[in-house]
Amino acid sequence: AAMTQDELKAQVGRAALDHVVRGEIVGVGTGSTVNKFIEALATIRDQIKGAVSSSEASTQRLKALGIPVFDSNEVDELAAYIDGADEIDGRGYMVKGGGAALTREKIVAAQSRRFVCIADASKRVEVLGRFPLPVEVIPMAARRVARQFAAEGGTATLRMKDGQPLVTDNGQHILDVTGLSIREPLAFESEVNQWPGVVTVGVFAHQKASLCLLATPEGVQTLRY
Ligand code: A5P
Repeated sequence: AAMTQDELKAQVGRAALDHVVRGEIVGVGTGSTVNKFIEALATIRDQIKGAVSSSEASTQRLKALGIPVFDSNEVDELAAYIDGADEIDGRGYMVKGGGAALTREKIVAAQSRRFVCIADASKRVEVLGRFPLPVEVIPMAARRVARQFAAEGGTATLRMKDGQPLVTDNGQHILDVTGLSIREPLAFESEVNQWPGVVTVGVFAHQKASLCLLATPEGVQTLRY
């Protein structure tokens, strides 16, 4: 029988254990694929020191499974950061933030020697931008940042939750931007990072993947960048 997307996610979640350095602290991302990784990680919890987490949601899951969670500031460099993506291109550049955790994800990624992306094959794209680009903004800057995206051909929408603007773990808002074709991810990330009020843009080019474990119906492919 064909594997469901859930089974594909579980498969890469388990495959990521090969990239967890035993005896050390591992960086943990956010999302439904990472949730599978966290379940797998619990089976080797005696072999690791613990985790640095990229969201309140992942922290709760890690703790519930008995995995110690450390604050970013308690740790220097991490050997590996394991996280999903909303899109990944042929060079390992990604769009992330569908789960609103992009700022902490970028912080933990920047603290890690290797970014191991875990994804199913539906995330592989030629050019980033098909998935609406998440951008975390200071609330008072939302309108102006939206106009700046409009000038670049994008349409920015404030992400809502239960009839209110979604509030991130950092107390900020999220814009989702459609209509972009991000052909130069490094330059694009640098540019948007300069816009006043932008906390984090969901392009991960300066913190790109070192490798991607891609779940396909034929098995897990390892892509190196
Ligand atoms: C969280 O903010 C995102 O960056 C996730 O990494 C991304 O949305 C992938 O999530 P799934 O594994 O649920 O697709």
